[in-house]
Amino acid sequence: QRSSIIAIDGPAGAGKSTVARRLALRLGFLYIDTGAMYRAVTWKALTLGIDPQDGERLSDLTRRMTIRLAPGYQSAFPTRVWVDGEEVTRQVREEAVSLAVSAVSSHPGVRSELVDQQRRLGKLGGVILDGRDIGTHVFPEADLKIFLTAAVAVRAQRRAEDLRAKGLPVPDRDLLEEQIRSRDEQDSSRAYAPLRKATDAIEVVTDHFSIQQTVERLLALYREKV
Ligand code: C5P
Repeated sequence: QRSSIIAIDGPAGAGKSTVARRLALRLGFLYIDTGAMYRAVTWKALTLGIDPQDGERLSDLTRRMTIRLAPGYQSAFPTRVWVDGEEVTRQVREEAVSLAVSAVSSHPGVRSELVDQQRRLGKLGGVILDGRDIGTHVFPEADLKIFLTAAVAVRAQRRAEDLRAKGLPVPDRDLLEEQIRSRDEQDSSRAYAPLRKATDAIEVVTDHFSIQQTVERLLALYREKV
């Protein structure tokens, strides 16, 4: 029904945003890309020269800034992002942001502000949220919880294709795998709301699935469940 909340969590590069965006179109749901919100804070912090370790200044920044999201135009940019009225859709996907986002996201003050916003946006239902802590923390009562994963090599391969599609330089495969591992490690090991599969989440391994097949699988799971 329209009031459902679908939570999709998982490690970096598992295809969450592409799949969530398409699933939302199929169901007529609102898609909320929570990673884009953490990226927006990180982009603004880097622009202002705020240290990714400075929890106090980052929390303050998060409370003061305005983030607006809207549906994106293609898989490479699943979400359009504005910070204080300025469009930063491309900037938030840049490597500098990807490298600093886990540190910025580790601060409880940053997280609690963004989680409040996510709950306000999602509470009426008819929404799909993707991230790291949706099923465990933001909406533990979600109607369907998916934990989307794939082998690191597969995720690195997809990330390379993604970067190519964006016309960005593609780092070598070992470096890409290393960056993905390091982000997962930081996201899983933080003290507050770490990346974790909720006990009642359904794990979907997408190594041998296309995007289309993954979307169909999630639709089937949704229809079984609701
Ligand atoms: O999903 P995406 O890769 O864009 O997320 C970027 C980063 O934002 C993650 O690596 C993680 O550090 C942070 N994040 C988070 N909690 C969420 C969504 C994203 O900590 N719900």
